[in-house]
Amino acid sequence: MKPRVAIFCSGRGSNMEALIKAAGSANYPAEIALVISNKVDAPALEFARGHGVRAQAVESKPFGRDREAHERAIDAVLAAENIQIICLAGYMRLLTPFLVEKWRDKMLNIHPSLLPAFPGLDTHARALAAGNRLHGCTVHLVTEIMDDGPILAQAAVPVLPGDTEAELAARVLAQEHLIYPAALAAFASGRPVWASASAALQNPLP
Ligand code: GRF
Repeated sequence: MKPRVAIFCSGRGSNMEALIKAAGSANYPAEIALVISNKVDAPALEFARGHGVRAQAVESKPFGRDREAHERAIDAVLAAENIQIICLAGYMRLLTPFLVEKWRDKMLNIHPSLLPAFPGLDTHARALAAGNRLHGCTVHLVTEIMDDGPILAQAAVPVLPGDTEAELAARVLAQEHLIYPAALAAFASGRPVWASASAALQNPLP
């Protein structure tokens, strides 16, 4: 039996799309069984339903400031759907120790930087401002520290002269769509920590 995966997302959902598409092939070792969003109108929900994946919004508003109560409501949906792995993919809520502890070593996240560099927001602007020549993305296990935890996969891209934030973000995002499905596949099939080759090395500068 393939492990059943839930994807959490809040917005655009392009990583969710990449995971659902990858899991569409018969030999992919995990099943995307559920998409959860904290926003009723997240476009990601429609995409998931269109691909036969159950998608549910669990809004935080009814729970006010009680973030754990919101997570307990989500966790009940996960239990009902017999979920074994969570993939955070642009889920814009800070998690409480309840969910992190309950799903320790079973929750993955993707972050648009080469961690441990640039945890948090605005990673592309910060990489440009720092004058970095390499930037990239990371898939890691979620711990109580934000954008931290054991690294499962990374891909690096070059920062090219004159890059805008949008150009750099697009170059990184293309790699996110490759390493997240690959990292989940490795994780779901119980392979040890998996690290990608650097995209920068595969595609040397012209
Ligand atoms: C991605 O850049 C991901 O690394 C970060 O949030 C963004 C989500 O984008 N955690 P999308 O919703 O998957 O398109």
